[in-house]
Amino acid sequence: MAATILRPTCAEIRLSAVRKNLQKLKKTAAPARLLFVVKANAYGHGAAELARLAERESLAWGLGVSSVEEGLALRGAGIKSPVLVLGSLYPFESFVEAINADLMVTIASLDAARLVTEAARRLGKKAVCHMKLETGMGRIGARKPSLLKIYDELSASGAVSVAGLYTHLSSADSDPDYTGLQLTIFSETAAELETRGAAGLTLHTANSYATVNYPVSRMDMVRCGIAAYGLADGFEPAMTLKTRIVFVKNMREGAFISYNNSFRADKPMKIATIPVGYGDGYIRRFSNKADVLIGGRRCRVLGNVTMDMTMVDVTAVKDAAVGSEAVLLGRQGAEEITAAELAAMADTITYEIVTLISARVPRVYVE
Ligand SMILES: Cc1ncc(COP(=O)(O)O)c(C=O)c1O
Repeated sequence: MAATILRPTCAEIRLSAVRKNLQKLKKTAAPARLLFVVKANAYGHGAAELARLAERESLAWGLGVSSVEEGLALRGAGIKSPVLVLGSLYPFESFVEAINADLMVTIASLDAARLVTEAARRLGKKAVCHMKLETGMGRIGARKPSLLKIYDELSASGAVSVAGLYTHLSSADSDPDYTGLQLTIFSETAAELETRGAAGLTLHTANSYATVNYPVSRMDMVRCGIAAYGLADGFEPAMTLKTRIVFVKNMREGAFISYNNSFRADKPMKIATIPVGYGDGYIRRFSNKADVLIGGRRCRVLGNVTMDMTMVDVTAVKDAAVGSEAVLLGRQGAEEITAAELAAMADTITYEIVTLISARVPRVYVE
């Protein structure tokens, strides 16, 4: 039985937007395959539901997650598609769990190569892996000399199938020269692997931005997250964060609002309280800065955002009352609050704005 939801705060996810975005990415990438990156609960949009959509409608070849736990959650939700774990696995049991659940793993070190081989032998089941090359991201990945050794060990083991080689571009959206350098290192390594007899490896480097802007980066597969959620130019945002007013009051000139008297009314004002706060991922940095849409108008957040509630100026919205809809992210009438607008305000990126929407906010799926 579904949990009772009474609090009016929710993140509404438009499946039609995700569908359209995935179709566009798939078409752009073709003949390269599309790996739909659904890590971190699909950047806050709900991994199981969106993976189901992608699988049901063949919108992507497979799914990318960050950990074995995320992969197991997809399997638990009945997802049969190929799943690649993009993170570096630790400890040893992670490989056992991954192999058992048919999750493809990333191998970025000789130690990991040995552990996955051991795990596969113990289970008597072949592991499938993609090797990760360090080309300049400086996160996880083996440099060329150890990558070649990893390949030799894995291919000689008979226990592990090496299905792919990939790298991650650190600055596709900001530095074409550096991106070019990363792609050159990648292609040189791929060519060297080929001379060692590696055939049919799936080569992949592109994130969303590279998929759209660097055709050469598409290779055999692209790994897209942010554009699928509509938070890249030319794509349609899928998430609307909304709630309803739960309290309204009129305040005298000189009255204060929220912790630390963080707002003082310089005139009589009408104030609404909405049941959203930093406990929902609506971060405190929005205090006294962000707008919320009520009655189709922009209304300023007043005072510090609190854990569960936020106050908003509705002086100009005559019919604002308990029960009126408030949109914190997304459209209402002709107005829109974008993730980019909120990100700029908080000195961060759109990825963080949506990923931070916390687990207590129900995700509601609409067409
Ligand atoms: C390894 C890897 N590939 C692909 C992606 C998807 O990137 P984007 O959301 O920019 O498309 C990510 C996300 O950070 C990633 O870590």
